[in-house]
Amino acid sequence: MIIVIDFGSQYNQLIARRVRENRVYCQIEPPGIDVDTIRSLKPDGIILSGGPASIYEKNSPGIDPAIFDLGIPVLGICYGMQFMMHTLGGKVTRAKKREYGFAALGICDSGGLFEGIEANTTCWMSHGDSITALPDGFAITAATDNTPIAATANPRKRLFGLQFHPEVAHTPAGGRMLKNFLFEICGCRRTWTMKTFARHTIAQIRDAAGDKKVILGLSGGVDSSVAAVLIHKAIAARLTCIFVDNGLLRQNEAGRLKTLFKQHLHLNIRYVNASRLFLTALEGVVDPERKRKIIGKIFMDVFESEAKKIKGAEFLAQGTLYPDIIESQSAFGGPTSIIKSHHNVGGLPKKMKLKLIEPLKLLFKDEVRALGSELGLPDELVWRQPFPGPGLAIRIIGEVTPARLRVLRNVDAVLLEEIRTAGYYKKVWQSFAVLLPIKSVGVMGDKRTYENIVAIRAVTSKDAMTADWARLPQKLLAKISNRIINEVSGVNRVVYDISSKPPGTIEWE
Ligand code: XMP
Repeated sequence: MIIVIDFGSQYNQLIARRVRENRVYCQIEPPGIDVDTIRSLKPDGIILSGGPASIYEKNSPGIDPAIFDLGIPVLGICYGMQFMMHTLGGKVTRAKKREYGFAALGICDSGGLFEGIEANTTCWMSHGDSITALPDGFAITAATDNTPIAATANPRKRLFGLQFHPEVAHTPAGGRMLKNFLFEICGCRRTWTMKTFARHTIAQIRDAAGDKKVILGLSGGVDSSVAAVLIHKAIAARLTCIFVDNGLLRQNEAGRLKTLFKQHLHLNIRYVNASRLFLTALEGVVDPERKRKIIGKIFMDVFESEAKKIKGAEFLAQGTLYPDIIESQSAFGGPTSIIKSHHNVGGLPKKMKLKLIEPLKLLFKDEVRALGSELGLPDELVWRQPFPGPGLAIRIIGEVTPARLRVLRNVDAVLLEEIRTAGYYKKVWQSFAVLLPIKSVGVMGDKRTYENIVAIRAVTSKDAMTADWARLPQKLLAKISNRIINEVSGVNRVVYDISSKPPGTIEWE
């Protein structure tokens, strides 16, 4: 395995992904980690990530220099390289010119990291400081016009530094450099597969849960579904899933999910229809944040009262993913500054005195999908687009009423059918309809109409942090619009949302 030390780079998750794509397990750790812990993890190699700090800033992050004497290969990237150079006796100075973007890279040592890479290639730079003197035992291995020491190596001690970012797609030979580090330098083997992960995790869950019962909140999304199937394989009927129908799901979703989970996946499910509770509480509510709060609170109450009926439950399972863990960990340990608020049932385990089981906490989203397929989940679940916890309530701008829910569900069903038929369901991150709180004038069969407007939103994204509006073909948009206006009574106008995130958000509320 490989350890990535998180110096706060926006790319540190990307480094971990690149390593895992090579089927080598990789874990991100904060700089505060001590050398004994590192030794006990037995890594084959260590990567020091980049970061926004300058080595000369007060409180700039650093790791115990003893890692350079462990005999384990270390690759420093950008700030990670500067930290290595500075610590081992080299010199880092503020560059006259910041270097940002593409740079032509001339390689002067074709071995080590650069084995099999052409002498002239390009790389992606993003730094203010530069190395101006190397520590003993290091040699220059590559340079750019602005950065005479763009790469360095001490082959005897197996220490390497890259001033540029090999993990981003803008460094075309970066993948090969990382491969060289993993396989030629660290001697890693390709053993990280979803099959072995599933086997280990199922055994771990069995050990952890013993003969106790586990409860899981099933939403129908990929994460909770995969977590449920994994735990079910470990402890079978001792897992009880609670599925709360909040009355805010898409057309026929609740029924379809119920059948899928019960009949196809044989999960032990408690289906709670709490629609009335949710819809009554939402009467007259227009403010988006109030909608969210009301829905969150009722969900917790319903879930808790249902969970209490399961006697002898000691564990609560959640489908928390690796990015959530890194972000909350970074908030305390590492210097990464982005903190995303979770949508999980965060307060529940404490309140109900339950211990947590989070079997997916080492995985990225695409790995969860691969695991789902490995476990035999149908494509319909594995490739589901994300759906927000507050559901259609935040896609009905203004008050949520049964009548308006009906209109939106019908519109959304047409939209999804067309998106699926055209092969765009998997290509876009999310696609959905939004019901607006205004009416507009139209003409239908020679008669004046005064009806609802719906907006169609389809976005491409990697992680929902940023998104762009999907360039759906005009022919497809025309068909969607035509069908909606003809088939859904109460709608006479369809518009397409062409805003990106930022500055827009994916959802309208
Ligand atoms: P925004 O609208 O912030 O959405 O760009 C980013 C992603 O998060 C989903 N989303 C939510 N999910 N509870 C959830 O569980 C929420 O309150 C919520 N709000 C937004 C949204 O669908 C998108 O995937």
